[in-house]
Amino acid sequence: MMNIKTLENIEYEGNSQTSILESARNSGYNFEYSCENGQCGVCKTSLLKGEVIELQDQVALSGVEIANNRILTCCCAPKTDVLIDAVELSALAGIEIKTLPVRINSIMKVSRNIIEVELRLPPTASLNFLEGQFIDVIGPNGVRRSYSIANMADEKTIKLYIKKVEQGVLSKYWFNEAKKSDLLRIEGPKGTFFFRGKCKKIVCLATGTGIAPIKSILDRLDKQHGCGNELEVALYWGNRSREDFFWQPSCKNLNVNYYSVLSRGDDSWQGRVGYVQDVAGEDIQDYNDTEVYACGSLQMIESAKKALTARGLPDTRFYADAFVSS
Ligand code: FES
Repeated sequence: MMNIKTLENIEYEGNSQTSILESARNSGYNFEYSCENGQCGVCKTSLLKGEVIELQDQVALSGVEIANNRILTCCCAPKTDVLIDAVELSALAGIEIKTLPVRINSIMKVSRNIIEVELRLPPTASLNFLEGQFIDVIGPNGVRRSYSIANMADEKTIKLYIKKVEQGVLSKYWFNEAKKSDLLRIEGPKGTFFFRGKCKKIVCLATGTGIAPIKSILDRLDKQHGCGNELEVALYWGNRSREDFFWQPSCKNLNVNYYSVLSRGDDSWQGRVGYVQDVAGEDIQDYNDTEVYACGSLQMIESAKKALTARGLPDTRFYADAFVSS
């Protein structure tokens, strides 16, 4: 057994076969994470003392980061006692990851290649989550894929937006075979993409179905009366085709400036044109009291983080959930 300690003096036991992230979870602590397979970089932290063993490839780390003792907690196990600078997320205390059976309540096509799927839990079961988190769906063939939850935690069903993926194994099921009342399993909630509420100005960036967790967060804030109407929200949602804008915010209590952004516009397009991170970058002059929530392609997230932090956003106020392959 090895001792894992953080700068905040959180201490727990680990072993050489279990990732630092998973051992934390087993001890009731939560650190930042999303993909758990080394690709998204959300779990990046500094190794301040000790040595680690790499359990899987740390794809999201650059050579410079590796040289500077940065590690991915989802990929590394302790080889000796270690000291890391990961921050514990107490908001997730008591939220348990469960495996539950669900049935399909409804399936609806919302755009040329996106469906809205509503899942219902057994009457006696419940899923406690923070808006912004995701679940894994385990399909009839045992294949597992992650999808962000698009609704609020106190609703009876779980709503997902699912994009068609050519050659996708689960995609084949969703788009050709799935029907009402089918029995599936889910595991979750997962991830640490949720509203932190440290700032008054909120910038949301989404591409494609990355709008799902943003919708969930905004619905919650709206229900909470926009936190006393003090929040100013700017939402930039990017898509390739105008038909892909299958939703728009309809907040009653929250002040949301919404911009639909087409990567390539045409003469009749009234919205903005370009990449969401560039369009948001043009608009935002001042990053004081601002936090950014980004969900969508890894490319958008990496580029947005680079662009916005270069303009003055502290990287500790950039929260992201990237869609990466399983
Ligand atoms: Fe560790 Fe994604 S790289 S959670």
